[in-house]
Amino acid sequence: MGDLLGVAVLGAGHMGADHIRRLDQVVSGARVVAVADPDAARAKEAVAGIEGATAHTEPAAALDAPGVEAVLIASPGPAHQEALLAAFARGLPVLCEKPMVPDSAGALRVLEAEARLGRRLAQIGFMRRYDAEYRRLKSLLDDGRLGRPLMLHCTHRNASAPPDFTSAMLIDSSVSHEIDAARWLLGQELTSVTVLRPRPSSGAPRGLLDPQFVLFETSDGALVDVEVFVNCGFGYQVRCEAVCEAGSARIGDEHGVLVTTRGTAGTRVPQDYLVRFVDAYDREVQAWVDATRRGRVTGPTAWDGYAASVVAEAGVRSLESGARVPVELAPRPGLYAGGGR
Ligand SMILES: NC(=O)c1ccc[n+]([C@@H]2O[C@H](COP(=O)([O-])OP(=O)(O)OC[C@H]3O[C@@H](n4cnc5c(N)ncnc54)[C@H](O)[C@@H]3O)[C@@H](O)[C@H]2O)c1
Repeated sequence: MGDLLGVAVLGAGHMGADHIRRLDQVVSGARVVAVADPDAARAKEAVAGIEGATAHTEPAAALDAPGVEAVLIASPGPAHQEALLAAFARGLPVLCEKPMVPDSAGALRVLEAEARLGRRLAQIGFMRRYDAEYRRLKSLLDDGRLGRPLMLHCTHRNASAPPDFTSAMLIDSSVSHEIDAARWLLGQELTSVTVLRPRPSSGAPRGLLDPQFVLFETSDGALVDVEVFVNCGFGYQVRCEAVCEAGSARIGDEHGVLVTTRGTAGTRVPQDYLVRFVDAYDREVQAWVDATRRGRVTGPTAWDGYAASVVAEAGVRSLESGARVPVELAPRPGLYAGGGR
């Protein structure tokens, strides 16, 4: 057990419980040593059956538990800033679920705190960078075979959203994944955002602006559009098509078994992200554990987390005003020159 990376997990809800299972049963080289959740029963349930793991209601108590060498943050976004700063203060490497910090001022504080340390400690949980299809698309774009990318057409659909999901969350929770994916795929910053609101679906809860159509401009003159529709009814569907000067490439078409019978042909649509992106989450956490055990920090950086928060905040302003909103980033600290991976 001694040479396994001891991990404290903060938050044992949907994602936290899934990551605890992953660290315990899927990923090699790590063990869960402490879990914190203000819901004491949830924390206790999360460590049941994990030898030596302790349950806490206070995040600080979990961080200070014996054997903790790294932290996985899976609490709600508004709790991330405090958790990240507490991890930095202890010199602990962190994998922090997206959004790094939902508000851009808080995200900047985290960025500056890490930059002051002079070394990276945080990897941000933009797991699409670990999805096999996204990685193939990224290497196609990087090797130049298709020429300069001109546009990305993206689709992000959920079967249904939780009842407390707000119109702003379509941007700062759902589209935050496309924000990071577009920056990473294109190697460019997003410079403006315009959100259009079609007549809401009658399948969406009353008052929720669902679907939305989001248009980003980029630093090298490309366009990125995203249809986000979180109560589409039929399943979880994420697609991305890159249109380049010498061709196009598309990922996210259903790739399961195609069944033809009784006059129909079809394949199953996953019902949620935990199913669609299971391999990406596994690879993300394994990569984090492997790098951390080697004393390295790889993957999406605090700069990526900060940029995503600024773009999402501009998107929410555009949703409210209907206007095109420019994205204004603080200067990029030298620590993040050259990006993540
Ligand atoms: N990468 C992805 O695809 C993906 C998907 C879903 C959610 N997320 C992110 O994961 C995080 C958690 O989302 P979720 O869906 O699991 O939410 P959730 O509501 O299911 O779980 C959150 C848990 O955190 C606990 N909590 C609240 N405050 C806390 C604190 N200060 N310290 C520790 N625990 C605290 C809550 O009691 C709850 O058990 C969010 O940042 C969310 O955006 C990422």
